[in-house]
Amino acid sequence: MIAAKPQATATRVDEPRSITTERLILEPLALAHARSLTRFARLWEVARFTANIPHPYPPGCADNFAKQSVEQRRSGGGWVFAVHYEEDVIGVVDITLSPDRRNGELGYAFAPWAWGHGFATEAARALINFGFGTLRLDVIEAFAMVENPASCRVLAKAGMRRIGEQMLPAPARGNDILCEAYRIFWTERLA
Ligand SMILES: CC(C)(COP(=O)(O)OP(=O)(O)OC[C@H]1O[C@@H](n2cnc3c(N)ncnc32)[C@H](O)[C@@H]1OP(=O)(O)O)[C@@H](O)C(=O)NCCC(=O)NCCS
Repeated sequence: MIAAKPQATATRVDEPRSITTERLILEPLALAHARSLTRFARLWEVARFTANIPHPYPPGCADNFAKQSVEQRRSGGGWVFAVHYEEDVIGVVDITLSPDRRNGELGYAFAPWAWGHGFATEAARALINFGFGTLRLDVIEAFAMVENPASCRVLAKAGMRRIGEQMLPAPARGNDILCEAYRIFWTERLA
């Protein structure tokens, strides 16, 4: 039997809150994180695979991104978290909501010096739990470039299913890139 879905009245989360995982603290992104974010967002090996990081990385870009993320959070449009490991900010992970607040799109980027330790998978799982448990979403989607197998692997390890391919903008490249689309429904979290 499938359990009744909790009422959608809890889709709005007003207060910033942190999420703690086994090794990480996900803190709602703020201006104070901008300098740490710039350290890895400005790198080509990071920007080239993302849908929202330009390259070269303009001065003030992280500040603007942090300010926009605060506005987005306040309006209920989505959440961006700075990922802390020990004393360092090693990544950023986000979930952007559809206008009706039923669907979320997951994204992330991590500093190269933190790759290969399972951090992205740990953060992605936490965001999926946040999306279904706190935001009461119906479905969460994510996209990873076909030429980015590490990210495709992260999404699969986080429990998402590959559902097809789609061309999406890649601002650091200045053109569209073929991406794999992944999806998970809230009912699948019951398994
Ligand atoms: C993609 C990214 C988030 C992965 O972060 P990470 O913390 O290294 O990820 P994890 O350690 O949780 O998992 C990576 C998995 O990919 C695998 N992997 C890494 N490189 C790979 C490759 N070239 N081919 C296939 N698998 C690969 C790893 O072995 C690991 O899988 P495993 O645990 O089964 O061994 C990170 O490389 C990154 O931020 N890249 C730049 C920005 C980006 O790509 N963002 C995603 C946009 S969709």
